[in-house]
Parts: sequence; C-alpha cells; structure tokens
Amino acid sequence: MNEFIKKVLGSLFSTSKGSSVIGVDVGSSAIKVVQLRKEKGIAVLETYGELALGPYADLEIGRATKLGNNKLSEALTDLLREASVTSVNAGFAIPFASSLLTLIEMPAVDTRQLNKMIPLEARKYIPVPINEVMLDWFIVPDNSRQTPKAGGKNKKDKEGSVVRKKREVLLVAIHNEVLNKYNEIVANTHLDTSFFEIEIFSTIRATLDQGLAPVMLIDIGAATTKVYIVEYGIVRISHVINRGSQDVTLGMSKSLGISVTRAEEIKREQGLKSNSDNKDVVRVALLTLDYIFSEADRVLLNYQRKYNKNVSRVILTGGGAIMKGVIDLAHKHLESEVLLGDPFAKVDSPAFLDDVLKEAGPEFTVALGLALRKLHELE
Ligand SMILES: Nc1ncnc2c1ncn2[C@@H]1O[C@H](COP(=O)(O)OP(=O)(O)OP(=O)(O)O)[C@@H](O)[C@H]1O
Ligand SMILES: [Mg+2]
Repeated sequence: MNEFIKKVLGSLFSTSKGSSVIGVDVGSSAIKVVQLRKEKGIAVLETYGELALGPYADLEIGRATKLGNNKLSEALTDLLREASVTSVNAGFAIPFASSLLTLIEMPAVDTRQLNKMIPLEARKYIPVPINEVMLDWFIVPDNSRQTPKAGGKNKKDKEGSVVRKKREVLLVAIHNEVLNKYNEIVANTHLDTSFFEIEIFSTIRATLDQGLAPVMLIDIGAATTKVYIVEYGIVRISHVINRGSQDVTLGMSKSLGISVTRAEEIKREQGLKSNSDNKDVVRVALLTLDYIFSEADRVLLNYQRKYNKNVSRVILTGGGAIMKGVIDLAHKHLESEVLLGDPFAKVDSPAFLDDVLKEAGPEFTVALGLALRKLHELE
C-alpha cells in the first residue's frame, strides 16, 4: 500500500482496445503518469496518477527532492502499480533545467546546407564538448519571422517576396549523463521508451492550439518556475526562476512557526484567499509569489520590447498554479489575460470526471503532452 498517492483513478475502462501509451514526468517533488489510448481517431484517457517523492527522501509531501536512480525507479514502479498502468510504451520528460535551449541566427542558405553547418556552429553556444551532448535543432519556418516593416531594407526577389538574410534555428542540447540517468530508470522499471522530450515541448503540446499569437506559459513547480514565450508554436524565450511552490510552504513554516506538513496543508486549503484569521499566511505566501510574477513580468516586458509584440495570453501550469488566488495575482502583475492550463481538455474522458480533471490538470500538463506525442507515434 502506498498512502502517498494523491490522485489515482485506476483503469477507467476495463477493456483496452488498441495500444495504450503513457507519458511519465519525473518532477522534483512528484512523478506524474498519464495513460491514453486512441479510439476512432480520438485520444481517450485510461488512467492517471501522481506520487509525491518527498517521502522517498524522508521529506514532506510537496518538497523538492534529489533522488538517485534506484529510489526514483522504486517510486515509479510504485506509481505504475498503484495507478493500474498497463502500458509499457512510454514517453519520458527531461527537466528543462537539464537542457540547453538557444535561438540562434544562421545565414539564409538551404536546409541541407544548414543541417551541415548547425553542429559546427553549435560549438559556440554549448559550454561543454559537443560529443558530451545530444544535439537537436529546429529550423524556424520563414513565415514565423517578424514581418519586416514597410520601407525596410529587405531586398525582394523576382517574384517580389522578401529575401531573408538570416534564418533562425532553435538549438536543443541534453547532456549525455542526463540521458543515461533516464535510460537507467527506464530499464529498471521495464518500460519501453522511444523518446525523451524536454518538458517545455510537452507543455506546449498539452496547452496550446495552432494559435499564432505570442503566449506566455508559466510552469510553477516545486523548486523552480519555468517561463516560456511561444509564438507560432516556437519557443522564443525560456527562463528559469529559482523559486517555486515549495518556497511558499517553507516560508510559511518558518515565519509562522508551524511544521512544513501543516504549512503545506494550509497552502492547499486556503491559498491566497484572505480572511481576518489568515492575513499572515497570505502575506508570507506573497513574498514568494510576488517575486515569481515580477520576474515573469520582466521576461514578458523584455520580449515585448525586443519583438515589438504584445503577449496576448498567459497560461499557468504546474502544481503551484492550482493554489487558490494565483490566477488573480498573476493577472495583477502581468496585465494580460491569465488562464489555468486544462490539458485533459485535449482528451476524451467520462463527464463525471470533468471537475476533478480540471482541478488536477495543471500538474499533469507535461505527462499528458508526452502521452499525446507517444500516441501520435503509433499512427
Ligand atoms: N492544491 C494545491 N495548492 C497549492 N499548491 C499545490 C497544490 N497542489 C500541489 N501544489 C504544489 O505544487 C508543487 C508541485 O507541483 P508540480 O508537481 O508541478 O512540481 P514538480 O513537477 O514536482 O516540480 P518541478 O517542475 O520544479 O520539478 C508542490 O510544491 C505542491 O506543494
Ligand atoms: Mg514539473
């Protein structure tokens, strides 16, 4: 028995037609898994579950951990069992902090030539020897570049289209040591995985549609908050803020002289909803949250200035986004429309679960995005 599982559904459907897939997100404070199946072209939710890692490191629930491979494998095995996961076809997330993502400018040569040049150029941007990393890249399609201002200096070709002097390329590097670590966990848990994906791309898949306008994604995790600005489905800016929801709990525990466990309970029950009894709770929580959203605002303003574009929407994900009152606080800081991520809206599930899935959704964003990609692979 494992009492640390917060939300486990068990298999929603007893008969599983076709192949099922899972997305596995090993976060710093909790592992999340989502199992999907495709039926008549539609992604159907089969099961999902979450397991707090704190107790595996003798820490409280909600705390960030740094566990070794054996403990992580043990925790994942527990979760797969408790969540009645039946599939071994997995997609795994790589933490954003273990990756390096840079948007670089390259000469406007054809794609074949560009593919030869990029690994050489990448040496300038990767701080470790290139043979120590797995390198990947995306050539940003031309139509997603800034529209040149009228009267600008871009030349036109015979057909009158603008000839671009540069092409943008999104460079992605993951250190081999990180990949080895995840490969070991996969082997220990007898899963079969065909890809590791940096969590930023899973988040984008799980939350955004085909929209073109710039959107800011804020993933409030336990130890850190990740901020991304995405335009035309392409990551323009990514940034890590070294504070997360765990800092709210630790701050409360310290300032109010209560246990971490009690502080975590208060955070989850009351959040930022203020009443005459909990003014101190809100004040302490704001110390962390104001910092996080001021930083996010700085990223947003920098982007708007640099590209001369407005960020029309902000989407909050991660467990820290579930806290009551966080959406309003984000709106106050960022002055944009702020929404809570609702990744389960991308899949079919029984109507009676709507409310539960809406509430749990932000935490499962990465795991769901991974499962969607894995499902797509089977087509
Ligand atoms: N209902 C809730 N109200 C407030 N905070 C919550 C709630 N549920 C979870 N949290 C907080 O969310 C955090 C965990 O979020 P999440 O699972 O997204 O983090 P993680 O993926 O483990 O961390 P990271 O992404 O930094 O590696 C914890 O600090 C937890 O206290
Ligand atoms: Mg996370």
